[in-house]
Amino acid sequence: EGIRVAILGATGAVGTELIQLLEERAFPVSQLKLLASPRSAGKTISFRGEALTIEAVSAEAFQDVDLVLASAGGSTSKAWAQTIVDAGAVLVDNSSAFRMDETVPLIVPEINPQAAAQHQGIIANPNCTTILMGLAIFPLHQIQPIQRLIVATYQSASGAGAQAMAEVKAQARAILNEETPPTDAFPYPLAFNVFPHNSPLTEQGYCQEEMKMVKETRKIFDAPELRISATCIRVPVLRAHSEAINLEFAEPFPVGKAKEVLSQAPGVEVREDWENNYFPMPNEATGKDEVFVGRIRQDISHPCGLELWLSGDQIRKGAALNAVQIAELLVKDQLLPTTEKAVSV
Ligand code: A2P
Repeated sequence: EGIRVAILGATGAVGTELIQLLEERAFPVSQLKLLASPRSAGKTISFRGEALTIEAVSAEAFQDVDLVLASAGGSTSKAWAQTIVDAGAVLVDNSSAFRMDETVPLIVPEINPQAAAQHQGIIANPNCTTILMGLAIFPLHQIQPIQRLIVATYQSASGAGAQAMAEVKAQARAILNEETPPTDAFPYPLAFNVFPHNSPLTEQGYCQEEMKMVKETRKIFDAPELRISATCIRVPVLRAHSEAINLEFAEPFPVGKAKEVLSQAPGVEVREDWENNYFPMPNEATGKDEVFVGRIRQDISHPCGLELWLSGDQIRKGAALNAVQIAELLVKDQLLPTTEKAVSV
């Protein structure tokens, strides 16, 4: 009884969190395989008090597996997806490889859980900034459709992986010691600095990370015409992202109503103390499941505009938690191959 799970990218920033979340949330795991590159083969990671040995990824590794949670980069996902599907497992993929594929559902369980039923073996987990923004704005969008949205992000190092997080610390130490900071994971020093997201630029002058927010939000909301403009910035924070969001509606959206809606929204916690100028901060969002939203206010430049600010853990809700919630949805709705069989017996 239970689900046979494999984690591809088990040693990474998101993979490590996936293992912890499966344990913490008591996901019904009957067998767990930890897969990574050959560099990690033979190392051990503990799961439910047991030391599990990491295997180098191979086609055989996906035999007798029901569910694969992958977070090993787009090229690794692309290389193994067909093998995984052919082996009869469902792939929940954290990379951007399949997100815009029309046959692949792109899911935030609080927003579009119904899309999971359409899966053909692969389900994509959205980009971290898209997930965090979606949680905070979809409940408002359901009350009054958003006409236009402008967002600026303040993204932590964790989005670039475990090595990038280590690099920011090493950069900070080097700079304090008046040495040259290392720049292997990042193109520039991030410690004591900020820079626009370094994903490749499109002809329109947006980087890929910004276009992910545009395209993925439209797909998840099923709002292909939604007007979105994003500016993505990397900041020297270790693992939680923040975002400043401006929303424009067709009619004024009362601030009180927005606060009421968000205070009841799943996965969202409104955190604001105007008297003390206290609002969401990435250090407090770190390690938490909720997306913290605050500074909800009328846009003084537009009668139908709203401003808000959020912080959310990039590795949790921005990646691993959302993927585990998708896995929980697959179990609940009997969308995994074994649960289908169990029902037909
Ligand atoms: P490894 O540690 O063996 O390199 P992060 O996003 O934190 O950088 O983590 C990336 C994850 O993806 C790690 O678990 C890493 O394993 C894994 N990985 C990277 N390249 C490959 C590959 N070619 N095959 C399998 N796993 C890979």
